[in-house]
Amino acid sequence: MRKYVIAGNWKMNNTPAEAAALIEEMKPLVADAKCDVVLCVPFVDIAASVEAAKGSNIKIGAENVHFKASGAYTGEISAEMLTACGVEYVVIGHSERRQYFGETDQTVNLRTLAALNAGLKAIVCVGETLEQRELGYTETLLKYQTKMALTNVTEEQLKNVIIAYEPVWAIGTGVTATDDQADEGNGFVRAAVAEMFGEKAAEEITVQYGGSMNAKNAEGLLAKPNVDGGLIGGASLKAEDFSVVVHGVK
Ligand code: 13P
Repeated sequence: MRKYVIAGNWKMNNTPAEAAALIEEMKPLVADAKCDVVLCVPFVDIAASVEAAKGSNIKIGAENVHFKASGAYTGEISAEMLTACGVEYVVIGHSERRQYFGETDQTVNLRTLAALNAGLKAIVCVGETLEQRELGYTETLLKYQTKMALTNVTEEQLKNVIIAYEPVWAIGTGVTATDDQADEGNGFVRAAVAEMFGEKAAEEITVQYGGSMNAKNAEGLLAKPNVDGGLIGGASLKAEDFSVVVHGVK
């Protein structure tokens, strides 16, 4: 029942020409994937990426979305603009946006609702800092972030939500959570979904792990019962590495 999804998050990397070339390289490598394959790319790479991915099993996502439909919000991009460009997924509430761009649990919730109302699939990111983990707040924080993000989301809309557990201390650091830490964190997220939407919805939702997931550690992480995919940063910038991660889903 549960859908496995491996999504790349390119962050602020690749020009449109580089995006097209990388996707061309990836296409044959991931064609036989046993999971959904998504690449979340910078806004300016969307057109080239959608074009390059045409006819393949690679879906294109964005890395953020604004919560208003239109108006005087200089520099922002609406959900409808994304769907009109062929975007199917969007990353919301990445810890880098929380850390550097003033993202809060409230704005994560508003963006999630805007994305879902426009028919996008939302990849909502949650995760604790090292300090929060050491203080023993991991479970409390993951449940709180998950519940805040999903406030006012309907049961029907929940089917278009993926939650990515990304411990902040594991992102871009080369320090991956152990298989058991990832499984435990994803389990806390799933428990929060169960408390809000019931056991069945919690069993069905896709919960990814993200944070230094790569060709070497993906298989072990993905073998854990609560890990239904990955959100991949650095390793999604290399076709070969990304393909190995994708094939970690057996
Ligand atoms: P890295 O895989 O580079 O650690 O990044 C993870 C991430 O932030 C994906 O959203």
